[in-house]
Amino acid sequence: MGTGMLHTHKLSVMLFLVLYLFKLIFLLTNNAKAMAAMQKKGWRIFDMSISTLFLATGLYLLFTAPEVKMLQWVKIGMVFLSIPIAIIGFRKGNKPLATLSVLLIFGAYGMAEVAKKRSVQPVTVASGATPMETAKAMYVANCVQCHGEDGALALAGAANLQTSKLNDEEVANILRNGKNRMPKFAGWNDAQMKLMVDYVKSLRK
Ligand code: HEC
Repeated sequence: MGTGMLHTHKLSVMLFLVLYLFKLIFLLTNNAKAMAAMQKKGWRIFDMSISTLFLATGLYLLFTAPEVKMLQWVKIGMVFLSIPIAIIGFRKGNKPLATLSVLLIFGAYGMAEVAKKRSVQPVTVASGATPMETAKAMYVANCVQCHGEDGALALAGAANLQTSKLNDEEVANILRNGKNRMPKFAGWNDAQMKLMVDYVKSLRK
């Protein structure tokens, strides 16, 4: 469910960005014919459907997210600010306002891209800690909010780590690159990465 929502959200955001970029270009170049065409019923329904889908899937993702980071709040703020500005800008043919609204939307999109990369939360462990104890602290600081202490929580569409069958390389790949709503973790060296992979495997039943 979470994954389908994410893909639908991404697709509707893309369509929305392209649509508003075209609308803005027509407005800025005084292309009255194209602007009039965009006012036709078909386009208006398309516009409304895309906007609704974009907002509805965004809200769903927001409410099912295990945590919402500062950057994401800024993104959401920009999106909501852009809506009234876009309505006034495009209805009244006000070029500066229309441009501002499109810039806000593109800015929000940029924020979303930046927010995806997640740097690892550092942990401090007692000097005599075993590698597995260190790994557990790393796991608790970075992974429990979605996967739970025992790996079976599976929040926000997360996979159940107890039944996972991925090999070492595949686990390391997911950590490095992220997947769907799983963020990518940047900042672990090879040894720490190996520790994390071993810990993930130790959760298996
Ligand atoms: C924001 C939530 C979130 C956090 C935090 C998170 N994950 Fe995930 N994880 C997911 C989601 C969602 C998936 C499923 C991705 C997919 O296949 O679509 C996943 C999948 C995985 C998988 C693949 C399992 C399989 O069999 O497909 C592994 C391994 C994994 N996570 C390990 C970790 C580890 C280790 C950490 C901490 C360093 C972590 N995750 C942090 C959400 C999260």
